[in-house]
Amino acid sequence: MKDSKEIRKEILGIIGLGYVGLPLAMEFVRSGYKTIGFDIDVKKIDRLSNGEIYLKHIGEDRVKNFFNSGLFTPTADVSRLNEVDLISICVPTPLDKYRQPDLSFVEDSARAVAENIKQGAIVILESTVYPGTTREILLPILEKGGNKLDKGFYLAFSPEREDPGNEKYTTKNIPKVIGGLSEQSRRKVVEIYKSVFDEIVEVSSAEVAEATKIMENTYRSVNIALVNELKVIFDKMGINVWEVIEAAKTKPFGFTPFYPGPGLGGHCIPIDPFYLSWKARKFGINTRFIELAGEINTMMPEYVIMKTIAALNKNKKSLKGSKILVLGVAYKKDIDDSRESPGIKIIELLQDGGAEVSYFDPYISEIYDMRQTDLVMSSVKLKDELLKEQDAVIIVTAHSNIDYKNIVDNSSVVIDTRNALSGIKSHKIFRA
Ligand SMILES: NC(=O)c1ccc[n+]([C@@H]2O[C@H](COP(=O)([O-])OP(=O)(O)OC[C@H]3O[C@@H](n4cnc5c(N)ncnc54)[C@H](O)[C@@H]3O)[C@@H](O)[C@H]2O)c1
Repeated sequence: MKDSKEIRKEILGIIGLGYVGLPLAMEFVRSGYKTIGFDIDVKKIDRLSNGEIYLKHIGEDRVKNFFNSGLFTPTADVSRLNEVDLISICVPTPLDKYRQPDLSFVEDSARAVAENIKQGAIVILESTVYPGTTREILLPILEKGGNKLDKGFYLAFSPEREDPGNEKYTTKNIPKVIGGLSEQSRRKVVEIYKSVFDEIVEVSSAEVAEATKIMENTYRSVNIALVNELKVIFDKMGINVWEVIEAAKTKPFGFTPFYPGPGLGGHCIPIDPFYLSWKARKFGINTRFIELAGEINTMMPEYVIMKTIAALNKNKKSLKGSKILVLGVAYKKDIDDSRESPGIKIIELLQDGGAEVSYFDPYISEIYDMRQTDLVMSSVKLKDELLKEQDAVIIVTAHSNIDYKNIVDNSSVVIDTRNALSGIKSHKIFRA
């Protein structure tokens, strides 16, 4: 796909320059729009101002084209929102400590927009939320600024379906679902977004668009839970679930493969379904599939520990006092995101059991200042001597740039939660 050379007249803005917002900014720029990126994290703004990208999975060429275009301006100054014709909100939507939706970042952004919005601007919420958020939370805050929908501004929801690290499907070629709070709002967004995205999917309301994203992530969560449960059952029967999946997926219809693992991670699958559960409770409905899937998936780190204890036992060792190396704390391979990662939970459980734990991750040199843990650790260097000192190595993330044969050769016990060792035969390997 050729980069656009024409500079377009509209100026676009993005609030929140993280895993979702920054690739979106790059796509706006590639489509020829002057783009202002807003973030409250001044460290991120400083790095971007120095021509530096903090997301490691984005290729050098893309980064170079982005900054060389001269079309991107990063800033922490929200008063500059009055310069933009379209504002896309891509801020976090976590759960609070009671596992309820925390919309504070969305609300703060909405207030900043309300105070600074340019007459006639388009606002799009892209953060994952429960159905009804755009209308019930965002709209009143924006109207408090004195403007009215379809008069002073336009408002829509368009879910982000970004999959960091996926080289086949990127921001541009993932179909973009758009639902407006009004017909006019939807049309306004489509007019601009059709010049950025390859395919636009228009739906009848913001609520349908919000529910679409929640459905996609709930579908993943439930199917991953199912395959995690099957893993445990088949393991008891001496059957390798990975081999079963490979065989099952040869069926040309009616089966979509999902893969088991050490537990869910990232800012989406472990969180988003609970946005729906919370909203469903307001209607007196229990989301039983979501709860059950959550229960099974959150038990997976404990299952990994159980299998580790069994493996150590075979070598007449206990968890307490054992040296254990966790390989990978990113929530999935080849990216630098450790949010909600099962690797973190596994480290904590191992430490609780009295193990001496270290970790190696080529993408995450340090663990600190995380929402779900007080853990502070640095990645060790992966050396043969280090592997030889370990009582067990647990593969939590199957990063591509690791020599797994070498890991097995130099370790006494390897617990594989990702089928990273599928081609290797050794009595040292234990599946978990
Ligand atoms: N990470 C993913 O793969 C992914 C995929 C699809 C959808 N989403 C959804 O997209 C949203 C954003 O996720 P993310 O992974 O990009 O989060 P992130 O934490 O990587 O980035 C969010 C950014 O928003 C900034 N921010 C917070 N409050 C702000 C404010 N008031 N004003 C300006 N900036 C502010 C933060 O400093 C941060 O840089 C979430 O709702 C998430 O569920 C994420």
